[in-house]
Amino acid sequence: MKLEGKNLGSLHLKNPFIAAPVKTAYADLESHVNQRHLNYYENLAKGGVALIIIEPTAVLKSGREHPKQLCIDEDYCVEELSKITKVIHDNGSLACINLNHAGRAANPKASGGVVLAPSAIMCPSTMQTPKELTKQQIQEIVEAFGKAAARAKKAGFDAIEIQGGMGYLIAQFLKARTNKRTDEFGKDKLLFAKEVFEAVSNASGGLDLILRVSANEFIEDGICEDDNVALINLAKKYGVKAVHAGLGNACDTPLWYYSYVSTPTDKQINSFKKLKSLIDLPIIVDGRMGNPDRINALLKEGWIDFFGLGRSLVADQYFVNKLLNDEIDKIWYCGGCLQGCLYNVRSGIGLGCITNPFVDKKFFTKSEKKLKVCIVGGGPAGIACGIYARMKGYDATVFERKELGGQFILATKAPYKDAMQKPLNSLINEAKRMGVEFRLEEATYEKLKSINPDLVVIATGANSQIPNIKGIETQYVIDAFSFFEGTLKPRGKRVLVLGIGLIGREAIEILANEGFEVVGVDILSELTQDFTLARLKNNTNIKLFVGTGIEEFSNDGVFARQEDEVINLGKFDTVISSIGTKSNKTLYEQIKDKFSNVEIIGDAFKVADIYSATQSAYLLIDKY
Ligand SMILES: Cc1cc2nc3c(=O)[nH]c(=O)nc-3n(C[C@H](O)[C@H](O)[C@H](O)COP(=O)(O)O)c2cc1C
Ligand code: SF4
Repeated sequence: MKLEGKNLGSLHLKNPFIAAPVKTAYADLESHVNQRHLNYYENLAKGGVALIIIEPTAVLKSGREHPKQLCIDEDYCVEELSKITKVIHDNGSLACINLNHAGRAANPKASGGVVLAPSAIMCPSTMQTPKELTKQQIQEIVEAFGKAAARAKKAGFDAIEIQGGMGYLIAQFLKARTNKRTDEFGKDKLLFAKEVFEAVSNASGGLDLILRVSANEFIEDGICEDDNVALINLAKKYGVKAVHAGLGNACDTPLWYYSYVSTPTDKQINSFKKLKSLIDLPIIVDGRMGNPDRINALLKEGWIDFFGLGRSLVADQYFVNKLLNDEIDKIWYCGGCLQGCLYNVRSGIGLGCITNPFVDKKFFTKSEKKLKVCIVGGGPAGIACGIYARMKGYDATVFERKELGGQFILATKAPYKDAMQKPLNSLINEAKRMGVEFRLEEATYEKLKSINPDLVVIATGANSQIPNIKGIETQYVIDAFSFFEGTLKPRGKRVLVLGIGLIGREAIEILANEGFEVVGVDILSELTQDFTLARLKNNTNIKLFVGTGIEEFSNDGVFARQEDEVINLGKFDTVISSIGTKSNKTLYEQIKDKFSNVEIIGDAFKVADIYSATQSAYLLIDKY
């Protein structure tokens, strides 16, 4: 695909692709830049994207969303951030900083204990009720935006993006829903934005400015396209040269904010088109744009000025180069799962991707050693191990007795997860392209021996478990793998799902969508929150019991214990066991002493998720 460069304000962008701001959670608590940042931004810049809007940078600690978020509130931050601008410039891209104060979306653990907002209205995402900002605090934040702009210029950024949307502080001032003030900042809902624009514009030393907005928050009385017009026209007066549109907001509508796979693309495009028709500035649009067919179709329509790319550049920082060089079969596609990116940012592990362990690392280069690596198991750990071994120039053979993909295949069967087929295909295609030899047969000691390997890697995954509960043998029980593979089908009307972990909750949703009455139980009283669980809670076909252990299956029903109480859940036609899986170490135990190097990775070593599987493959090949 050949695409011309374009101007954004005074900047010349070599192509229409811009990296959208994505939290990394790589910094330390004092906001120092480290090697993970540098690897991430180096990979991004080398990958061909024209302009990189770096992760949101807080103008004050009180505006941090995450303890490991970068700040620009003190002078030492200039030196820190210069490391990022240097690595971006050295590798051929332009650098833009995203300046933000999160307001009520701030995390008290990161913001110094206090959360501040125009009014004391709870953020439904963090469940924190902020304190109403005093006028003095408002002025401090305005000044902080100005100082941040001056520091951004000194740090070598080419542009500044002001966060004016996505549910953060400027946006919180814009509507009565979040701004109930009776002073001048309540009467004139644009006043705070105006003061920030003025402060940034005066201090930015002529840098080009971009305004980030949420085209439509998709919540009652929230910001819509028409509301944005006044904000954008105001911003224009202060030198803003382009509008960067996302959707939803961090507090109320995170599904839209992250462009989760369940959000409809026609609604997305209609909103962006409407906003574009109302303004006369170039527009950058985000949300699952990392799809060559979609990019081609939208380019033909002609109304998009720049494409913002978030997760597609996390899954493959070289996406743009591959697209422009007509190497789309080499792209490592994003599956929209949010597991390696968002959930790892939230947990503090830091931005990653289920299929790309190199997000914050340097890619492997050819080794001087010549090794023969034999891998048993063609799931995500095994395939990834084959790819990384080939990167180092080793011979790699993968044995798989069933279908390539392992538990990754199950992930493609869950609701809204068909998009996961793309990263799975990318993984398999990359392995084949790199010259990994696949042998679709059972591995045995003799077969491995005949290859004379220097390294045997056991990636045999895990087996589904059925719990040993009194009376379970009287039930029609399906293990989770057989359910997802479709080899055993649920019967009757009522289904009991044992375990509400990642796999269990997906089984529950599939069953409820098919019309079954589903009861899910889990011994844990606190479940990991994700978008699937949020949907289950709103589905009337589903009842969830946490902190609940099944004691007995009997003719009178299923008896479960909740603390000191025993309850009867009634009778069920089918029981699905998703209580977890158990590492399959059979072959490992048989051969571990028969070769000089035998290693075990992925679920076969310790049951976890796809992210951990590919990471374990990375760590292993890094060692050799
Ligand atoms: C882990 C993660 C963190 C994000 N953090 C921010 C943020 O702090 N500010 C912001 O404006 N957008 C943020 N976004 C939204 C992205 O910039 C982008 O709009 C969104 O992911 C949709 O684009 P995509 O489908 O290309 O990922 C974040 C997205 C992800 C996945
Ligand atoms: S973890 Fe999932 S959503 Fe995030 S970048 Fe990777 S494939 Fe995409």
